[in-house]
Parts: sequence; C-alpha cells; structure tokens
Amino acid sequence: MSALDTFSAWIEATRMAQAIGESMWLIASLSAMHVVGYTLVVGSALVANLRWMGVILPKLPAVAVTRPASRGIAVGLAISVVTGVLLVSWKASAALSNSIFQTKMLLLVVAVSLQFAWQRSLSRRDVVDTRPVKAMAGIALAVWLGLAVAGCAFILFE
Ligand code: HEM
Repeated sequence: MSALDTFSAWIEATRMAQAIGESMWLIASLSAMHVVGYTLVVGSALVANLRWMGVILPKLPAVAVTRPASRGIAVGLAISVVTGVLLVSWKASAALSNSIFQTKMLLLVVAVSLQFAWQRSLSRRDVVDTRPVKAMAGIALAVWLGLAVAGCAFILFE
C-alpha cells in the first residue's frame, strides 16, 4: 500500500468525510462555496494577468491593479482549497487515482507558483510592459483556465 493509499483510506474513514458523503445538503453547500472560491481565484487571476499583458487598465500602474487582485486570488484559494479538500475527503481513493484530478492538482501547483513567485519579483521593481512580462502573464492565465477546465472535466468523467 502506497503512502497515498494509506492517506486516502485514513481520510475516507474520518467521521467528517463519512458525514459529508452521506449528506446531499453538505455536498451541495460545499460545492456552492467551492464555486465562490474558484470564481474569485480565476476572476482575480484574469484581472491581474490581463493588466500585466496591457489589455485592461493600461493607464493605471500595474501594481495598483495586481496587488488587490493577488489578495483576491489568495482569499479565493483559501476558500477553494478548504472546500475542495472537504469535497474530496469522502471519495479520496477514487479521486486521487483519477488522472484528471491529478492533472488538476498539478495545474494548481504550477498556477500558484507562476502567479506568486514570478509576480512578486515583478512587484519589487518598476516594471515597464515588456514582451516577456506579457508572455508570462499569458502563460499564467492559460494555466488558471486549464485548471478550471480540469475541475469541470473531473465531475463529468469521474
Ligand atoms: C483554484 C483552485 C480550484 C479551481 C479553479 C477549481 C475548479 C473546480 C471546478 C470548475 C469544479 C466543477 C464544478 C463544481 O463542482 O463546482 C470543481 C469541482 C471539484 N473540485 Fe475544485 N477547484 C479548485 C481547487 C480544488 C482543490 C484544491 C480541491 C481538492 C483538494 C478540489 C476538489 C474538487 C472536487 C472534489 C470537485 C467535485 C465536487 C463534486 O463532486 O461535486 N478543487 N473544482
């Protein structure tokens, strides 16, 4: 048994996971909160990266737009990670061995790393809109959107 199997079996056996799995109301409420969380993440990522690309609000300094948008991403991430873990807890073995779910988690790690590591380095200096900055913003945006698509694909094909 791998460490992942042990973890899945443990989380599925918790009372919390069993209570969630037995209640349509709990699943529906958590799903609703998950939607709010990931809409905030993807919406804020859209605003931040479109500004880096110079598509929206080009007259405002980039950090004046991207700093509040990053806070939106952080708050939305907290909500989507907590609700996501609860939603997955009762079917962890099936989800963790599902390639779409694995892809979704990989895209989540890549998106967060690109958005925060790269953007932090930009906010420290005075950034002129350059082609590499626009390209990185485009890549970050594509990864966030891919993550949302993987989320939808997971419920369709799980
Ligand atoms: C910003 C990050 C995330 C995005 C953009 C995202 C996106 C989505 C989307 C579009 C759906 C399908 C529609 C829905 O049921 O609401 C979904 C469902 C789901 N997500 Fe996420 N998600 C994120 C984070 C997470 C995390 C961290 C987990 C778990 C560790 C997770 C677990 C799930 C599960 C289990 C479902 C299916 C819910 C069900 O069975 O009804 N998500 N997600």
